[in-house]
Amino acid sequence: LFEKIPAAPEDPILGVGQQFKADPRAEKVNLSVGVYQTEEGKIPVLNVVREAETRLYKANKPHGYGPISGNPDVDHYIQELLFGKDSEVITSKRACTVQSLGGTGAIKLAADLLHVVLGKNKAATSAPTWGNHNTIFKQAGYEVSHYRYYNKEAGTIDFDHLIGDIRALESGTVVVLHACCHNPTGLDFSEEQWKTLLDVIVERGLTPLLDIAYQGFDKGLDEDASSIRLFAKAGISFLVSSSFSKSFSLYGERIGGLTVVTQNADEAARVLSQVKQMARANYSNPPLYGAALVATVLGDPKLRAEWEQELAAMRNRIREMRELLAEAMKKAGSPRDFSFVTKQDGMFSFTGFTPEQIERLKKDYGIYAVANGRICIAGLNHKNIEYVAKAFTAVQK
Ligand code: LMR
Repeated sequence: LFEKIPAAPEDPILGVGQQFKADPRAEKVNLSVGVYQTEEGKIPVLNVVREAETRLYKANKPHGYGPISGNPDVDHYIQELLFGKDSEVITSKRACTVQSLGGTGAIKLAADLLHVVLGKNKAATSAPTWGNHNTIFKQAGYEVSHYRYYNKEAGTIDFDHLIGDIRALESGTVVVLHACCHNPTGLDFSEEQWKTLLDVIVERGLTPLLDIAYQGFDKGLDEDASSIRLFAKAGISFLVSSSFSKSFSLYGERIGGLTVVTQNADEAARVLSQVKQMARANYSNPPLYGAALVATVLGDPKLRAEWEQELAAMRNRIREMRELLAEAMKKAGSPRDFSFVTKQDGMFSFTGFTPEQIERLKKDYGIYAVANGRICIAGLNHKNIEYVAKAFTAVQK
């Protein structure tokens, strides 16, 4: 049966993480996967998560099945984080949320819902984008096209071409957008650009899916959701995939959600019934543990406030590393000015390194990054930054 099956290529992001693990060099640095690391190079267990774990341990609840739509408290908190506590979307009940297996799972549910139930088969993603966007939609039966996003020479968003490409999409196409902290470029739209984009989306009858995997990693929880709130205010129907992987440092617990914003409560209830069917056919019902941790933290005002502080500390450390990297590159004598890293948002920076330079970084220095030139700034710390800057400078010469 499988005699002639070709081997699939290694995942361009997670595969690099595996290579890093296998590298015996002590000086190695992991700048590949989008995972926040502490100053000590460790994935943190947030204090609030530890407290929630203790409470759950004491509660000693049985591990029965949860609802297909997941933990209802989490579904509610997701909406609060996306739209704001007193938003019209929540009071009118015109949105439904289903807990998902991380942000990836939410995107898959969205792709299935739109394809299986509504017959959509065209999606458009940014060029470049998080590679899995393309894979998920292709595997869900879509033809995937790309709208231009990045101007390599200028190191900015190629907005004019982007708008032209979006305008040219067939009506009904699913347009995947990064709500904040664009992965991989670290370049986000200005408020004006979001408004222009929204107008074109409405005018062309496109179906927006806003992916927000890094809420809280740019400016703050509310600020980072501003694009989603703009779309909500416009009164259109759209979808949002969200994730607690990064914001709670709960990567392996696979906790996120798909939110579908519709026109009214009745529509939302019908959409919810369909999303639940997608979930049931994919994995039956989502895991309980990560959701219970998130619900425990967000349901306790004291823990919630503490979580926001811990999130801010992660965000601020990344900002500091951006400044330090720019300085260290100058000090190391980089032929290229690296101050652009201080202007990008979120966890990532698009360095402009070629696949050959990325390969040299790996081979000669044990520094692991994604072949498209993306680095995860959160992998930098005071101890490795000079080493990294020297290596970054050397591979440019
Ligand atoms: C990333 O982009 O590195 C993260 O979102 C992890 C992943 O699943 O690719």
